[in-house]
Amino acid sequence: MPSGALHRIIYMSTAVGVLRAEELDRIYLRAQAANARAGITGLMLFYEGVFLQVLEGPAAGVTSLLERIRRDRRHSSVIVLESGPADERSFGGSAMNFVSARKLSPGEKQAFSDLRMAVTARGASPGIDLSDLLAAFGAIRPA
Ligand SMILES: Cc1cc2nc3c(=O)[nH]c(=O)nc-3n(C[C@H](O)[C@H](O)[C@H](O)COP(=O)(O)O)c2cc1C
Repeated sequence: MPSGALHRIIYMSTAVGVLRAEELDRIYLRAQAANARAGITGLMLFYEGVFLQVLEGPAAGVTSLLERIRRDRRHSSVIVLESGPADERSFGGSAMNFVSARKLSPGEKQAFSDLRMAVTARGASPGIDLSDLLAAFGAIRPA
């Protein structure tokens, strides 16, 4: 994996139209392969039409990836919730861990909905501690 300072970006976005399961699979399989090559790891959640993605890796790599992702017409309203240096990677497992809606626990669904509502109401500074939410996903289970 490329060395250098670690950078973390967390964003939320809204799927355009209804994303079929195959499309979702395509997005995350592509993400997994491309991110592994770029030394980028993280988490992707999709629940009720909303994405939450964490990207961790070399600063140049994650910022240019975010710009590519922003241009993707399969989603819109990309809101960056965090972007800055990170001490360590938050997730093990594969490069891009994907947790589908059916694997979310009731508590995780609630936390996700709370975050989505806070972002809708208050934008990029929703006043919710993301580290709590992400800690819940630290022990990644296979999709
Ligand atoms: C919600 C969402 C998350 C994505 N995450 C990644 C990702 O982590 N890594 C990646 O390479 N592509 C990701 N993509 C796909 C990119 O937007 C883009 O389609 C892909 O990188 C191919 O870009 P290119 O056609 O410019 O090469 C994501 C797309 C969406 C809609």
